[in-house]
Amino acid sequence: MCGIIGYTGKKNCVPFLLDGLKRLEYRGYDSAGVFILQGGQIVTVRSVGKVAELEKMVLQTNPKGTTGLGHTRWATHGKPSEENSHPHTDCTGDLVVVHNGIIENYLSLREKLESRGHKFRSETDTEIIAHLLEENLLHVRASDDEDRLIKAIAKTNKALSGAYAYYVMWTRTPYLLAGTKVQNPLVVGIGKEENFLASDVPAFLQHTRKVLFVEDGEIVIIKSSSIRLFDKAGVEKSRKPVKIDWDQKKIEKGGFRHFMLKEIHDQPQALEDTLRTEREGFGKILNLDTTGLRKLHTVHIVACGTAYHAALIGKYYIEQLAGISTQVELASEYKYRALVPATNALAIAISQSGETADTLGAIQKAKEAGFGTLAICNVKGSSLTRLCDHVFYTHCGPEISVASTKAFTSQLVALYALALFLGQSNGNISRGFFEKSYKELLSLPKAMDEVLKLEYDVRHLTRKIYKEKQFIFLGRHVNYPIALEGALKVKEVSYKNAEGFAAGEIKHGPISIIEKGTPVFILMPEDRLFEKMVFACQECRARGAFVVAITTKAGAKQLKNIADKIITVPTTNELLQPVLDVVPLQILAYWIAKRLGCDIDHPRHLAKSVTVE
Ligand code: F6R
Repeated sequence: MCGIIGYTGKKNCVPFLLDGLKRLEYRGYDSAGVFILQGGQIVTVRSVGKVAELEKMVLQTNPKGTTGLGHTRWATHGKPSEENSHPHTDCTGDLVVVHNGIIENYLSLREKLESRGHKFRSETDTEIIAHLLEENLLHVRASDDEDRLIKAIAKTNKALSGAYAYYVMWTRTPYLLAGTKVQNPLVVGIGKEENFLASDVPAFLQHTRKVLFVEDGEIVIIKSSSIRLFDKAGVEKSRKPVKIDWDQKKIEKGGFRHFMLKEIHDQPQALEDTLRTEREGFGKILNLDTTGLRKLHTVHIVACGTAYHAALIGKYYIEQLAGISTQVELASEYKYRALVPATNALAIAISQSGETADTLGAIQKAKEAGFGTLAICNVKGSSLTRLCDHVFYTHCGPEISVASTKAFTSQLVALYALALFLGQSNGNISRGFFEKSYKELLSLPKAMDEVLKLEYDVRHLTRKIYKEKQFIFLGRHVNYPIALEGALKVKEVSYKNAEGFAAGEIKHGPISIIEKGTPVFILMPEDRLFEKMVFACQECRARGAFVVAITTKAGAKQLKNIADKIITVPTTNELLQPVLDVVPLQILAYWIAKRLGCDIDHPRHLAKSVTVE
């Protein structure tokens, strides 16, 4: 959904911009550009494709300046072409705007602006912001150019509808950058004699960990040694910066070829970091209103994509451990259904980024219907964390790969702990059961280390199957969402057709797609459903499938002549088993994509945070 970085300071901004763009590339990679104030003029270098292409062009033109902006685009309006690449300028060319998000009323605004003589050079919604600012700069009353810019932005925002963050550079105020946002992220990095504006913290993390989160409607002005914040009416206000605890190592590949593989291997640490703070975290959250929680009789969970798969498993956790009726819904669907107003009800939103537009819309709806709200989120200060009554942070560090891995398993441990705490506070589980289960939860990082040792085996397996035209995943109960997640992982990074099904459903239709040699991955730990899964194995094999069983040690012994290949994962309790079972599927997706030569960290058509509906 576009990545933006801005720098103003004493040094040449170009290396800061290029490095920041590379770190934001997960947000979009259709085209990229940098725009630098050089000798009172705005110099623009832009190219279609990834930041590497832009870098080549920058080397040729060698622009220099101490204030500049960079943008990497995920196309919404207008195809990925040079004229649609950012930045966009007003008619004078003295003002540039870069933008992330969507301006919903851009067609009507464009018509009006054109009728007033503005000349458009692109098909984008961004360009209307530049022309609106051009007009408003002429019409607001102000004490100086900086004041004029702030007032013009406030006035422009009143005309815009949609979710956006935009950044402005103006030749009349060459020492500053301005930014504003509504439902899209905008963070300020506070350095020494240099400051940054960006869509996400990794863009400047190697230079500063001191961060200021800008809120909806606010306007921020950064100069090399000062930051000014204004409310939507243009009145100055202040906010304390926060210190981000992510370190530089967490945003590097650390010897791995791709972030996806690195993040798969980060999982033991991610779980440990999440669990370390979890007990205290949920204790604090739940103590806020223990009586309310005792009465809680409905939980709704909303999320998208991989986080939705975590939510599906969360339902099993909360219903089984806390005895509370739980509904899970795709956030994009939840927003548009009739919601019965509720009391004693909690809505949980799960999101790695905390910026997913659909999830934000869904939790807002639940809030309006009287639900208490809890965010399970990985990004401090993100929109979701500000919207919800309570926040529980997963601590898996920045997730850079577009395909989510460590955020998913961290969300699962968070949900399990939540269910345990709820069950304990409403008396659904005993103290002894709580302690035993919590111990099992704490043993997961070690088991995760073990499961990662399967990489060699899984990688070897992909050599045999990576050219197959389709992949099927089957699971039951808590492993059904893992089948969905395995299929999603394969689809998004290798572009192969992959489907996940509830094992009991295949005979109701899906079995017909099995052909000779179709790889079918069956999640079948040795538990009370094991025998039923053995039937599924046999049904698929009888139709020519190449059956891979993902099982535990006790299951492996029984599957010798039933599956074509057995992958043995460590055993934990039935509800936690999916946390381990998903790992071989993540590795599988990675290695299929790697063998096919796919751009794993930047899968086609995708972006990491989906900040538009
Ligand atoms: C899949 C993936 C997406 C995200 C989804 C929600 O690997 O990354 O499906 O899970 O877009 O994103 P968040 O969790 O940031 O709300």
